[in-house]
Amino acid sequence: MTEQVALVTGSARGIGRAIALRLARDGFQVVVNDRTIGSEGEAVVEEIRQQGGTAIAVGADISRSEEVKQLLTAVRDNFGRLDVLVNNAGIARDNLLMRISDDEWAETIAVNLTGTFYCTREAIRYMMRQRYGRIISMASVVGLYGNAGQAHYAASKAGVIAFTRSVAKEYGARGITANAVAPGYIETPMTADFSDQAREALTRRIPVGRPGSPEEVAAVVAFLASPDAAYVNGQVISVDGGMN
Ligand code: NAI
Repeated sequence: MTEQVALVTGSARGIGRAIALRLARDGFQVVVNDRTIGSEGEAVVEEIRQQGGTAIAVGADISRSEEVKQLLTAVRDNFGRLDVLVNNAGIARDNLLMRISDDEWAETIAVNLTGTFYCTREAIRYMMRQRYGRIISMASVVGLYGNAGQAHYAASKAGVIAFTRSVAKEYGARGITANAVAPGYIETPMTADFSDQAREALTRRIPVGRPGSPEEVAAVVAFLASPDAAYVNGQVISVDGGMN
């Protein structure tokens, strides 16, 4: 049986890293991507290889159409197939609405939403040929409920959700499913600089009583990438400890 191939964007660290490691453990050949591949990205590839898995690292800024095309060409040249795309790369530039600059708005939409579009568009070409594919995109609870100080981030993630539901409808009949995962408060480098006060206030809103781990998000992504999820399509699965 051919080993399936999974591309995980933004997987040099944080949630993406946990997803790459988990999918490798589940038997996928993994393409680790980040804006540029430095020591963090290389370390993820090395860890997968040490576990007996197969991985390569390809640098590409997903907000640039040309770089995404090159990324997918690298996937084709190395593996000749693509079964799972995890649109994980994302940025947060928290700011009050009145202070959000044009650049902050544009950059947030460019990475979180347009990047998801570019990667999905290119990946779907392979998946159509195979008549099989799983597209899993990282949204956020903020994309469902909104959040003060994150209007641009929330809008980008709500866009990811609507995009996912549309892809699910357009390609479901071709053997391709599209789902989103909406994490709550997960401990990663993205959330590492929260003040103690913000951390406590957030944790009070979580019935489970603690932040989540990247591995807990990766477990849900692994399910969506597995044969067990064949009939799950167009869904948004929250991984938030019950937070809202
Ligand atoms: P992180 O900041 O720790 O990691 C994100 C990774 O994406 C980094 O390695 C970064 O270099 C990469 N990246 C950023 N822009 C890129 C680009 N243009 N091209 C390629 N790679 C790029 O973030 P974290 O926490 O691991 O988040 C992963 C995803 O989960 C993001 O989409 C984020 O919005 C989402 N999320 C995170 C939550 C959290 O509490 N940490 C909560 C809800 C959603």
